Amino acid sequence: MASFKPIAIFLLVGLMLGASKAQLSPTFYAKSCPNVFKIVRAVVQKALATDARAGARLIRLHFHDCFVDGCDGSVLLVNQSGIVSELGARGNDNITGFNIVDNIKAALEKACPGIVSCADILAIASVESVYLSGGPYWEVQLGRRDSRTANLQGAIDGLPSPFENVSQLKDKFCRVGLDSTDLVALSGAHTFGRSRCQFFDRRLNVSNPDSTLDASYAAQLRRACARGRDTFVNLDPTTPDAFDKNYFTNLQSRFGLLGSDQVLFSTPGSDTVGIVNMFARSQQQFFNSFGQSMINMGNIKPLTGNKGEIRSNCRRLN
Ligand code: HEM
Ligand SMILES: *[C@@H]1O[C@H](CO)[C@@H](O)[C@H](O)[C@H]1NC(C)=O
Ligand SMILES: *[C@@H]1O[C@H](CO)[C@@H](O)[C@H](O)[C@H]1NC(C)=O
Ligand SMILES: *[C@@H]1O[C@H](CO)[C@@H](O)[C@H](O)[C@H]1NC(C)=O
Ligand SMILES: *[C@@H]1O[C@H](CO)[C@@H](O)[C@H](O)[C@H]1NC(C)=O
Repeated sequence: MASFKPIAIFLLVGLMLGASKAQLSPTFYAKSCPNVFKIVRAVVQKALATDARAGARLIRLHFHDCFVDGCDGSVLLVNQSGIVSELGARGNDNITGFNIVDNIKAALEKACPGIVSCADILAIASVESVYLSGGPYWEVQLGRRDSRTANLQGAIDGLPSPFENVSQLKDKFCRVGLDSTDLVALSGAHTFGRSRCQFFDRRLNVSNPDSTLDASYAAQLRRACARGRDTFVNLDPTTPDAFDKNYFTNLQSRFGLLGSDQVLFSTPGSDTVGIVNMFARSQQQFFNSFGQSMINMGNIKPLTGNKGEIRSNCRRLN
């Protein structure tokens, strides 16, 4: 019994620290925009009907938003007076999904004008995208406001690269307060969506074969990438558009597409290996951890209170 006491105190202190850091709440729009989840879900559902990648595009935008000065909608800003867009960073090269965000914003401005931030739209669109693709639903924290700044250098320095090793990836996550479990769980978002060949084709060199890549999978990728380095291929070759635990079983069979995926499992002695194995064993474990890690990521440095603004056009300052 005695050993539980310090743990309880630890948890309590942790909760208090989390609360003072974030000040977000799941019921933030309960009165001001009660149908916000329904409205976002309808637009995401419509987008998914004609574009299997819609959900993948949206959650990736949320990730790239949160990793640069917190979840404040900064990734959505295009070049304009006083703003150098984060879209000039290599990690944001040709990132997509802005038109879906615009459609969500339009639907929300109609129902509850001036109320829902673009930063919160990305957080809600993420949970709806994952859920509609067969994944978990988590309690989304809300109340973020939109930045009046962008940080191109922050995007260049802060976004992880597919060519990094485990220590570099862990370091990028650690800088925003995320740990190895968050890194592995959130990388599981590569269970859907696509990647261009330019981000993994160095692994396909026949005179220097990557021993952590299955040979038949490598041959298949070489054929696909013969069409050019801008060719898109499935991040999860087994169930490309479903949100499931196959990303982790793929890693166990050396079917990870990006170097940054496979190193989570193929780096001897890394604490990420056991976490991959745990998620490969239990989809429930993965889903629970994924939801918690999305909440953790969503809590990175939000603007609250009277900071920032509620943009009326997500791509531009008011
Ligand atoms: C761990 C470090 C990560 C690296 C190095 C990384 C890198 C990449 C790269 C290179 C692509 C392909 C981009 C393209 O070809 O345009 C991609 C796609 C994607 N990433 Fe990540 N990523 C990471 C973590 C994450 C996280 C944390 C999430 C979300 C929680 C995420 C969600 C996605 C999704 C859904 C796609 C597919 C997007 C689409 O189909 O348009 N990634 N990622
Ligand atoms: C934004 O403008 C800067 C120069 O002010 C330029 O270097 C950059 O390429 C532009 N970014 C985009 C995404 O067009
Ligand atoms: C980005 O998109 C533009 C067209 O929108 C295309 O011309 C360019 O080749 C793309 N760049 C990459 C690296 O895929
Ligand atoms: C990862 O890469 C960095 C920079 O190249 C290097 O210093 C470090 O030793 C590498 N770590 C591992 C585990 O390979
Ligand atoms: C492939 O690997 C060989 C041997 O390491 C190297 O000399 C060559 O430059 C690589 N080719 C490419 C296209 O990277």
